[in-house]
Amino acid sequence: PSGEEQGGGEIRDWSFLIREALKAREAAYTPYSHFKVGAALLCGDGTIYRGGNIENASYTPTICAERVAIFQAVNQGKREFEAIAVCGGPEGGELQYCAPCGVCRQVMREFAVPKQFRILIARSPEEFKEYTLEELLPESFGPDNLKQ
Ligand code: THU
Repeated sequence: PSGEEQGGGEIRDWSFLIREALKAREAAYTPYSHFKVGAALLCGDGTIYRGGNIENASYTPTICAERVAIFQAVNQGKREFEAIAVCGGPEGGELQYCAPCGVCRQVMREFAVPKQFRILIARSPEEFKEYTLEELLPESFGPDNLKQ
């Protein structure tokens, strides 16, 4: 094997990041939907930030696991991101392929390089789908649009 998959992308072992997302999921606060999501964000410096979704009695203030992880990293001064692993499913049930919502994709777009940033939608450390942000958010609007 050449070590390269089709399209020239590098094959990486993402199981370490998915394991972090599974741990992050344990912290999810979901008394209303009972749908637990965990996310683990890999920064350019190798650090990992975790997030679990946090719900609210007033419903709309609910925040997704992905944004919890990203906002924690950004508030620690991190600005370069390589990948995010996401795992979600009903409490006590099987994990499903839980894709990031549109709002979270747009938040990723603020900091990530769309053709490079990887989104790993995982059911287990071995069972996952891998996308670039570009694939999940084509023709996107980002910081460059506001540069004169
Ligand atoms: N949720 C996430 O945390 N991430 C996703 O990718 C999809 C949805 C959360 C929000 C809410 O707490 C629950 O899942 C049900 O929508």
